Amino acid sequence: MALHAESAYRFLTPEVRARIEALRPRYPDRRALLMPALWAIQETHGWIPLEAQAELAAYLEVPSVWVHEVVSFYNMYRERPVGRYLIYVCGNIACSLRGARRLLRFLLDRLGVAERAVTPDGLFTVERVQCLGACELAPVIQVNGEFIGPVDEARLEDLITTLRAKAREVAS
Ligand code: FES
Repeated sequence: MALHAESAYRFLTPEVRARIEALRPRYPDRRALLMPALWAIQETHGWIPLEAQAELAAYLEVPSVWVHEVVSFYNMYRERPVGRYLIYVCGNIACSLRGARRLLRFLLDRLGVAERAVTPDGLFTVERVQCLGACELAPVIQVNGEFIGPVDEARLEDLITTLRAKAREVAS
């Protein structure tokens, strides 16, 4: 059942709902609309907590298990908060053979953070993922969707410095 009171929505802000309504005519049914609607939530809030999933289920009047199935199946949807820079480290075969495991360890140690956690400054999250589909760049990483590779420790060190500088620039 849809929530009607404006205050009932914390994650489905008026902007998110406007995006969903703009998408609605392009999809044959509410189940098909789930993926782009979830994307709208994630782009707005950075992640999709259970509360947001429940709001979307209520808004679209679909079972909440449908929403959760989609979120938990696709790793592009995030169920926990992430840093401003989300770094995916490919851990599949081509990248593993070229040192991905060592590079993942380097990044985590260098940033002083556990995998999938957020650094205290809110800037970084590092996550090992399956093949990024850019094996020719192995070992490859992705930062907020941008491919970088092949990488080594020196390149990762430069990247961290550059991203920190960029964040300071935006903040000033
Ligand atoms: Fe790393 Fe394919 S194995 S991108």
